[in-house]
Amino acid sequence: MKRPKETCHLGKSSGHHQVAMTNEYSYIHEHLETLYFISKEFNCKSILEIGTGDGDSTLAFLESLYDREIYNGLISVDINPKCKGRKVIEERQMENGVHWITADSLKLDIQGKFDLIFIDGDHGEEVVTKEIIKYAPMVKKGGWLILHDFTNPAYNIFKSYCSWIFKGYPNYDC
Ligand SMILES: C[S@@+](CC[C@H](N)C(=O)[O-])C[C@H]1O[C@@H](n2cnc3c(N)ncnc32)[C@H](O)[C@@H]1O
Repeated sequence: MKRPKETCHLGKSSGHHQVAMTNEYSYIHEHLETLYFISKEFNCKSILEIGTGDGDSTLAFLESLYDREIYNGLISVDINPKCKGRKVIEERQMENGVHWITADSLKLDIQGKFDLIFIDGDHGEEVVTKEIIKYAPMVKKGGWLILHDFTNPAYNIFKSYCSWIFKGYPNYDC
């Protein structure tokens, strides 16, 4: 499969995970091909998405799973039960392929390991830092942790990434 032209800084490795972060000031639509590509190319069978939102990334993951005839591989979490994405996926009659969870990502009680975890929820530095601490260990060895708008100065969360990937678990002072 040909790698998509744009988008993430791919392939940074924490030793256990591959980490991708999307470009500054980007729209999710610029990355859907990449999300699909990573999921499919690396044969990700279990995916956890934080932030269903409008369902664009949800659909990219679902399509990559359906293309491999995997119909129970995606969990999508949003704090808002009325987020548009659920309706979008229902309209496409793909809702059976995703398990919806309404929860705050930091309060969610979830176990297990995933081939791919996509973080696209709150975006604030403190929350994202905590999300990284919570969810990075749930990525299978060799799996993917993907963060949207991660290097966007408007969200100021690049520091969280650096703290985690280069110095072990985040240190709020660094
Ligand atoms: C930028 S949108 C996600 C976009 C989505 N990935 C897409 O492709 O359409 C962010 C979503 O995260 C949700 N969210 C914000 N904070 C959250 C939290 N702490 N836990 C879970 N979801 C959260 C919001 O309700 C919103 O729907």
